[in-house]
Amino acid sequence: MSYPPINPKFPHFWHGGDYNPDQWPRNVWIEDMRLMKLAHCNTFSVGIFSWTALEPEEGRFEFGWLDGVMDLLAQNGAYAVLATPSGARPAWMSAQYPEVRRVRPDRQRELHGGRHNHCFTSPVYREKVGIINTKLAERYKDHPALLLWHLSNEYSGECHCELCRAAFHNWLRRKYGTLDTLNQAWWTAFWSHTFTDWSQIEPPSPMGEQFIHGLNLDWKRFATDQTLDFMQHEIAPLKQFSPNVPVTTNFMGTFPGINYWRLAPAVDVIAWDSYPAWHQSQPEWEQASAISFVHDINRCMKGGQPFMLMESTPSTTNWMPYARLKRPGMHLLSSLQAVAHGADTVQYFQWRKSRGSVEKFHGAVVDHAGHEHTRIFHEVAEVGQALEKMDAVIGTTVRPEVAIIYDWENRWAITDCAGPRPMNHEKGYLDDACKHYYQFWRRGIPVDVIDMEQDLSRYRLVIAPMLYMLRPGVADRIRAFVQAGGTFVTTYFTGIANENDLCFLGGFPGPLRDVLGVWVEEIDALTADQSNTVIPAAGNALKMSGEYAARDFCDLLHTEGAQVLATYGQDWYAQRPALTVHSFGQGRAYYIASRNDARFLNDFYGGVIADLSIIPVIAAHLPPSVTAQVRSDENNDYVFVMNFSPDDVQVTLDARPYRDLLTGETIAQPVTLGAYGVRVLARPAQKQ
Ligand code: GLA
Ligand code: ZN
Repeated sequence: MSYPPINPKFPHFWHGGDYNPDQWPRNVWIEDMRLMKLAHCNTFSVGIFSWTALEPEEGRFEFGWLDGVMDLLAQNGAYAVLATPSGARPAWMSAQYPEVRRVRPDRQRELHGGRHNHCFTSPVYREKVGIINTKLAERYKDHPALLLWHLSNEYSGECHCELCRAAFHNWLRRKYGTLDTLNQAWWTAFWSHTFTDWSQIEPPSPMGEQFIHGLNLDWKRFATDQTLDFMQHEIAPLKQFSPNVPVTTNFMGTFPGINYWRLAPAVDVIAWDSYPAWHQSQPEWEQASAISFVHDINRCMKGGQPFMLMESTPSTTNWMPYARLKRPGMHLLSSLQAVAHGADTVQYFQWRKSRGSVEKFHGAVVDHAGHEHTRIFHEVAEVGQALEKMDAVIGTTVRPEVAIIYDWENRWAITDCAGPRPMNHEKGYLDDACKHYYQFWRRGIPVDVIDMEQDLSRYRLVIAPMLYMLRPGVADRIRAFVQAGGTFVTTYFTGIANENDLCFLGGFPGPLRDVLGVWVEEIDALTADQSNTVIPAAGNALKMSGEYAARDFCDLLHTEGAQVLATYGQDWYAQRPALTVHSFGQGRAYYIASRNDARFLNDFYGGVIADLSIIPVIAAHLPPSVTAQVRSDENNDYVFVMNFSPDDVQVTLDARPYRDLLTGETIAQPVTLGAYGVRVLARPAQKQ
């Protein structure tokens, strides 16, 4: 299956980036147009932080300069992703209307300054945003350069003002109806916290309440919903005047503050800003695989529809502790990595490095030197040239047989938990998800990364590490999936609490107990320097052998129909089950009781993958820093082979004919990849 291009007006890869002409005189814009062509760029994101340039005084608008920029782009065959300017507001507004300035959790109202710090509830802010968005939409709706609306910038944060507090109360009333229901859901009898009037409820604060987990969860849900509501308010005038121009906003990967799955349906295309920490202390494969994981989330948020790499740096960031340069080749590799997972654009922050202020040392296509004779500029042009040869990939997607569940609300609840490991600590949830994911990445097996609300029936293997929270319907979907022949894998700290963070009574893993065939009676939390061992049962079906290290979490469980595949090797619970499998309906459910070493995950998934005959993108055994991913339409596969290491590697493909999409050459086997090398290979799709 394939999708239409983001905007049929330009059905090619969009390549370009955030462009701030309002920081520069017109002669620089003219030079930018010349450089843009040399860099093989075609699309600029404009106006993201231009509110003051567009409305220097309240009600006085100046669009002349933006007309000039838009016209210049069109005259030069380029396009614009046009932003609404709500990411940063003019000083006059903060001074005139203090309510637009956010109030912090300690109930202090912020001064003017910075960005991304507005009250999303404020009627004044909404009114001002509505006016400017309407003017932009009316003026540019038919402009030949306009491809897409870019809503604000990296929505984030929460406000603790009286307006937001009242909006929260309304949100709670809508959700619970009565205070009795709310008190029950939040278990407020604890510490005598029962509310007798809605007005008594305070958003969580270091000055007040922080320990009602149901309240904390609902506040985070409210913050997401309020962001969504604000975003929809921004979208309305854009859709009114330009119904056919798609809208997006730029997400920030696994940023914990917003449950992006709730925002996704309101935009036409998903976009995200990716800033990997290449060449730092983490092994390259670990960072590469973790970034692939996030690309996959972004593809899955619209069911496989291609997404946009809205921002990435052409060289370094300025906000990581160390600004390591991307090694030669890494720029092309990491750009095509996004494409491999479903991106139909490669865009940057930023086109031209600003001369002053906080981002003057952030990477850019055009450096302070101001010309095209730089290493970075050449590498950007190389990406542009590659993308120009990849039109066939546009709209293709990935259809994995494997899914990993990674869920925002689950992460919030796990982080909030006091026990069995430290409070206000994520307890390794994201890290676990990435470690399970890596076992597929390194074998070149595509994976979907989904939240717990998604349909599971299209997968053969579903993995849900630390599925602590089970919202209504989730256990039923998992049960139906296994019953129908699916394979389900989960771990310690699963099936503990419902959507309000109330523990399941009657034995963990709560409503999944029958599916997994185990009852988890206790959880032992190990200190950082403690470990246990896990010993596979002789002759186990997964062919696991030797001894594995267990750390952090060790569940003590009883089997209730499950078969024991491995036991603990040490301590007073030696010989009790550490890994089980339960045949349930037509399928199977595995329970991994402890957080084990990488070798365990390797051997375990090696066994499960072999058992299910899950086919990798290419049959070859891949070196540890190499992956292969694939995007397909009905007839063709586009295979991306990527080497995230400084060493040359060779990869053998299957017998199908392969053609290099970038050079047009027919492939002679084996394929060689140099340091940080990437190949894009077309082959006929395997007919199902
Ligand atoms: C974010 C923002 C950009 C810029 C970059 C720097 O992604 O959206 O405006 O600040 O970070 O990396
Ligand atoms: Zn507010």
